[in-house]
Amino acid sequence: MKKIFVTSQYPGESVQRLSEKYDVSVYPKARVPTREEFIDNAKGCSALITTVADIVDKEVIDLCPELEIVSNSAVGYENVDIPYATEKGIFVSNTPDVLTETTADLAWALMFSVARRVVEADAYVREGNFTCWHPSLLLGMNIHNSTLGVYGMGRIGTAVARRAKGFNMRVIYQNRSKNEKAEAETGGQYVDFDTLLSESDYIVITAPLTEDTRGRFGSDEFRKMKPTSIIVNVGRGPIIKERELAEALKEGEIWGAGLDVFENEPKVDSELLLAPNALLAPHIGSASIETRKRMIDMAVESVEIALSGEVPKHLVNPKVLDNR
Ligand code: DGY
Repeated sequence: MKKIFVTSQYPGESVQRLSEKYDVSVYPKARVPTREEFIDNAKGCSALITTVADIVDKEVIDLCPELEIVSNSAVGYENVDIPYATEKGIFVSNTPDVLTETTADLAWALMFSVARRVVEADAYVREGNFTCWHPSLLLGMNIHNSTLGVYGMGRIGTAVARRAKGFNMRVIYQNRSKNEKAEAETGGQYVDFDTLLSESDYIVITAPLTEDTRGRFGSDEFRKMKPTSIIVNVGRGPIIKERELAEALKEGEIWGAGLDVFENEPKVDSELLLAPNALLAPHIGSASIETRKRMIDMAVESVEIALSGEVPKHLVNPKVLDNR
């Protein structure tokens, strides 16, 4: 019987369905496996269902000669050594689309929470400080009628921009290339990077991590942004130089930040942890019950297809077909 290792527990029934046909083990703890635990469990497996926190590198691949598919339950897949998996004839699949709207929702939750200081307000009341109403208490920024700048106008960026219509916002964006379909849907206008920095009241990063996007936002960029602006990152942490963001917040070069992803996850820069105008979330962009069910359904389906000898639908390394 073929072996499958699922590195996390998920809501829904699909993993259960898989165990009717295969020898499935699910990592039982409420955290992701350590490297040693991951390798121990992965050995001898034909399929792995992983998350972005599981590193599938050359060492893991070499230790798993039976491996047919790495089914990553995430849209991102930078945790997998794609060229090496491809060379070895291993399918790598992801879970696109199903998490787009949920992640866009979180981007807006961060925008609102930072702009209107919602977390601070909650703490203020709980700590017993609400003794009288005051006109200058916890003043924030407007969202309506402001300018939203989207960095990365793909599926998630488009979903973020679409929501801006309801707030009468101007939408500008920067992307590898113009996205005419997104423009038609959102009214967004393609601008150069400096215009995005200088004209946005909110910059929302939804881009994937690539050689071009890594470290794209640092001190020079924050200095070009409005002192009243807010940056939100639901893409990938290393797109922002975290220490430089902490300094920009401290110096008042920008007004606030809402981050769901971090440069060296799960570590967070010590200075950023001290910044009161930063709202920090533990990579929960796709974390709704419904969406997590849909992600695991999709990841399981890819495994079923691959182990039955067919090509999974959401293959991220189509060149693998030349090596099988
Ligand atoms: C993804 O899907 O890439 C998210 O960042 C993790 O759920």
